[in-house]
Amino acid sequence: MLDSSWSFAIEDSKLPNNGILTVFPKGVSILLIKKAKKIYAVSNKCAHMACALSGGTLEGYTLKCPCHDWKFDIRTGEFLSAKEIKIPTYQWKVSDGKIYLKI
Ligand code: FES
Repeated sequence: MLDSSWSFAIEDSKLPNNGILTVFPKGVSILLIKKAKKIYAVSNKCAHMACALSGGTLEGYTLKCPCHDWKFDIRTGEFLSAKEIKIPTYQWKVSDGKIYLKI
């Protein structure tokens, strides 16, 4: 049983490999990305001026913001040009075919 810090995000079957989806557990806008059957969960809000990263592009593990092209590593949340700047990343779990995020 997961404790209350874990929130249901979406059915795992709805996130295909190489898929990107925006989910809103506890009202927080989070991007879920599945690559090589591994899940990455990062904030949907750019660290620069809060543009929605869901409109950006993903190349490898690099997510590029659609507004001013800041690039983030989805594995760590780090801004590639200054690693001390990060977007939040979230722990995830799959249980009974459902993806949960620790918020
Ligand atoms: S808001 Fe994302 S780069 Fe400016």
